[in-house]
Amino acid sequence: MTISTVEHNRLRQSFEGMSSVWLFGYGSLIYKVDFPFLEQRPATIEGWARRFWQGSHDHRGTPDAPGRVVTLIRQPEAKCKGMAYRVSPEVFEHLDVREKNGYLRFSTPMAFEDGSSTDGLVYIATEDNAAFLGPASSAEIARQIANSAGPSGPNSDYLLNLAEALRALGDHDPHVFELESHLR
Ligand code: BEZ
Repeated sequence: MTISTVEHNRLRQSFEGMSSVWLFGYGSLIYKVDFPFLEQRPATIEGWARRFWQGSHDHRGTPDAPGRVVTLIRQPEAKCKGMAYRVSPEVFEHLDVREKNGYLRFSTPMAFEDGSSTDGLVYIATEDNAAFLGPASSAEIARQIANSAGPSGPNSDYLLNLAEALRALGDHDPHVFELESHLR
């Protein structure tokens, strides 16, 4: 079920003439920062909700037993808090490979805590990608997470690390925290 988005992403935006680009992270990019950045700021994007609705066949699960990781779902009233990074365009060569299982780069406005805003990029796995799993009850999602593991480690670590990182950001995401309670 792994259909790489690397080539698609390479063609999506031109970074010509740009020395840096803002990237919004709402999942593993908040706590697994294995890339260089020039600046880091907590930020929020509007109209999107974080959900454990994307299958992970390459990091937190396997092709036969996918785990569940986050993507963003359109929800007009929602706000999603995360971490924004100003990165040089070369960083996307690494991240496009890391996040190749269904995630495409989209342009988004993001707001910083001081009220200023900027445009940047965010990786989203849309409903039409082959690894999309969609909604399930919190108990079912938590059970799948508890029972999954892949090359990057247990799926439960992904959820617990994300919950911890969101707490550190001062965010209360009911979806993530409910799954965390089920898991614990
Ligand atoms: C993120 O943390 O923004 C992210 C989540 C899933 C895939 C790519 C990026």
